[in-house]
Amino acid sequence: MMMDEFRSEFEDLQETIQQGPIYPNVTPEEIRNYLTSRYDFTKAMALDEVVSDVERMLQNWQVQVTHPRYFGLFNPSVTLASVVADTLVAMYNPQLANWRTSPAANEIERHTLGWLTAKFGLPTESRATFTSGGTEANLSAVVVALTKAFPDYGESGLRNLAAAPTIYLTEEAHHGYNKIAHMTGLGRKALRMVATDSNLKLDIGDLESRVAEDRRNGFVPFMVIGTCGTTGTGVIDPLAELGRYCQGAGLWLHVDAAWGGAASLSPTLRHHLSGIELADSITCDAHKWFSVPMGCGMFFCRHPESVAEAFRSEVSYMPGKESRPVFDPYTTSVQWSRRFIGLKLFLALAQQGESGQVAMIEHQTAMGNVFRESLVASGWRIVNKTPLPLVCFTRDGLVVSDFLASLRKRQIAWMSETQIKGASVVRACVTSFRTTENDIHWVVGEMNRLVSEDVRQQAVAPAPAYARGNA
Ligand SMILES: Cc1ncc(COP(=O)(O)O)c(C=O)c1O
Repeated sequence: MMMDEFRSEFEDLQETIQQGPIYPNVTPEEIRNYLTSRYDFTKAMALDEVVSDVERMLQNWQVQVTHPRYFGLFNPSVTLASVVADTLVAMYNPQLANWRTSPAANEIERHTLGWLTAKFGLPTESRATFTSGGTEANLSAVVVALTKAFPDYGESGLRNLAAAPTIYLTEEAHHGYNKIAHMTGLGRKALRMVATDSNLKLDIGDLESRVAEDRRNGFVPFMVIGTCGTTGTGVIDPLAELGRYCQGAGLWLHVDAAWGGAASLSPTLRHHLSGIELADSITCDAHKWFSVPMGCGMFFCRHPESVAEAFRSEVSYMPGKESRPVFDPYTTSVQWSRRFIGLKLFLALAQQGESGQVAMIEHQTAMGNVFRESLVASGWRIVNKTPLPLVCFTRDGLVVSDFLASLRKRQIAWMSETQIKGASVVRACVTSFRTTENDIHWVVGEMNRLVSEDVRQQAVAPAPAYARGNA
């Protein structure tokens, strides 16, 4: 691979994105008409021409999630090493379903996952696999927990259980669990919503009484979800208390650390995750705070025998029986054909080292703090409490949807709306390691200008001077 050319292409693109708009202005019809007019696939086209055209579409017709002023939904800026990794994977196209076909790739994944298993404090014999993302990892957790708690589940299905299983989580947990409850056959009503305290953390007392009540009523509680970095507000549930309670109550603790798990690398943040080592299983997405391209989720489980039971499969046409007891991922995970997902994390870690990864995480955390301070200094009210770089805020009289529409119209920044105890607030998460203090101060300055003016009469604000390369 021509690394110099690749590097300069990559850096040029980052520069272009940084100078350009964050939000696209396009309708579905515009894109559909364009595609219909140009691509009927009846004749061959020059690859260079198509690639340029696709790049133009991607530059103009998407939210630029790698923009330093994208304060979004955990979609990160990406490192060069991780992009090189994805390109290599596409070129060699290794099949990771079984060990024997791709020994190097399988061992690279195993090595990388083993390193992170130790960071979480899970036992070395734990089983870990890369997944397409957090939802697949969370689905894996529910399937494996069901398999361990109900030995008949695998062969006879949920309908043959004597009583209905239930899962405990808060409204702040990821909403993908609704789909998981639906897909597994548990049914969405099997999800029990536990109350949160004033800081939006799971309330252990309420958990205890709901579990006890369900047991009295003939249900079978089997699993609790604790979130480490909730999607809406970045809150970390009380993991150590949850771990102790679940052990005592015979419940499976799954820690959904899809975003926040990366903080376990940081010496200054890791104590906030204390108790994660008690989890039966953990979800962590490298495609969130490890800054690698989608999709790169991970599932960790301290019960390898339950993982093997949940995903067991014996087929005559799969090679590799002679490689047992090494491991074949198609027998230890949801997927069958398997992309070499883990190379992007391996290459990123190898290239920048643990200290480089920690520096990125801590830089974003520091930028979150700058954001909070800058907002408070100009009269905004912070309404969430987290050590992670996710800030929820509002001010008296703010109409959140109008405010966000103005941010969008003026290309100031990408932020979103979230609900806290029924009230709409603005949510901004520092998802890019490229975000600087200048970006934040400029954005807060523009926000202050917006709220002090009649937003409907504003023209589009010019891009900040530093973003045009003058700083
Ligand atoms: C806490 C949490 N869990 C799970 C997910 C789902 O992850 P994915 O989008 O990779 O499937 C998210 C997504 O933002 C999340 O924030």
